[in-house]
Amino acid sequence: MESKVKELVEEVGGVSISNPDQAEQFRLKYLSKKGILADLFEEFKTLAPEQRKVVGKQLNELKQMAEKKFADAKETNSAQNGSSSEKNIDLSLPSESIELGSKHPISLVRASIVDIFTKIGFTISEGPEIEDDWHNFGALNFPEDHPARDMQDTFFVESDSADKWLLRTHTSSVQVRVMKNQKPPIRTISPGRVYRNETISARAHCQFHQVEGLYVDEGVSFADLKQTLYYFVQEMFGEKIKIRFRPSFFPFTEPSAEMDISCIICGGVGCPVCKQSGWVEILGCGMVHPNVLENCGIDSKKYTGYAFGMGIERIAMLRFQIKDLRLFFENDMRFLSQFKSVL
Ligand code: PHE
Repeated sequence: MESKVKELVEEVGGVSISNPDQAEQFRLKYLSKKGILADLFEEFKTLAPEQRKVVGKQLNELKQMAEKKFADAKETNSAQNGSSSEKNIDLSLPSESIELGSKHPISLVRASIVDIFTKIGFTISEGPEIEDDWHNFGALNFPEDHPARDMQDTFFVESDSADKWLLRTHTSSVQVRVMKNQKPPIRTISPGRVYRNETISARAHCQFHQVEGLYVDEGVSFADLKQTLYYFVQEMFGEKIKIRFRPSFFPFTEPSAEMDISCIICGGVGCPVCKQSGWVEILGCGMVHPNVLENCGIDSKKYTGYAFGMGIERIAMLRFQIKDLRLFFENDMRFLSQFKSVL
């Protein structure tokens, strides 16, 4: 049997396979269930144990050799097929069109707000979305257990430490960080995502975006605040838009105000968007409370400052006449693709 195997090694080595038919003949002859190798393995079982050692090794080598030859032949065949199908590519066909993407409306409005304020010297500051109680509330003159904290329903983050951690409810927390780390004059805006534990509806969401502004220097006055916001509104909504301030309350500003703009839909005559009042509220603002300046290490006798904060969604809703806030977070392509041609 030993010599038979040796002969076969030579025979198999000499076979040349150049097409799929020959490969199949090779498989049937040597590797199939009724092929030569299968017969040899049957015969092998009848050998005496000492012979098996020698023949077994040779037999296995023969099997491996035959299998490799068949596998190699298959590979070359399929590679040849591949290249022949490549040859069939029709280069004259028009290519698949590449769809142009669009920016999210919140990104568009954020970019234009940033652009308007950086033009007049504001820098951009960013900070963490997970904050400690002090940066979000304490430093901003919210006393412990004061009902003013309920104005901003807060998501608290579970933690083992004594510090209370939370998802920031406004980006005023970033301004605290800036005031602690920089010396006046400070003129900065902080755009970013904020979170409030609100029931989701067409007008409210548990997450939204803000841009808050801060200017601290010697002799900063409410008149500066008004003029800056007037400039912003004219750049954002056009020259015909009027503004008005209504007294309000925030723990971190004194005096505080809310600012309305004349309704951009009806021009101030009255319509459903402005609830027939002719005005729509767009932001909160005021003079930075002296306690806040002191909490952040700024001398409140020497410096004064103003601050304002607005929701980007609100501005976007007015600007693009979007009636449901939830659309911003659903990523519905039918909604998003409408912003292709904007800006
Ligand atoms: N931080 C306030 C809010 O989120 C907005 C604000 C900022 C009001 C600055 C006054 C001054 O509602």
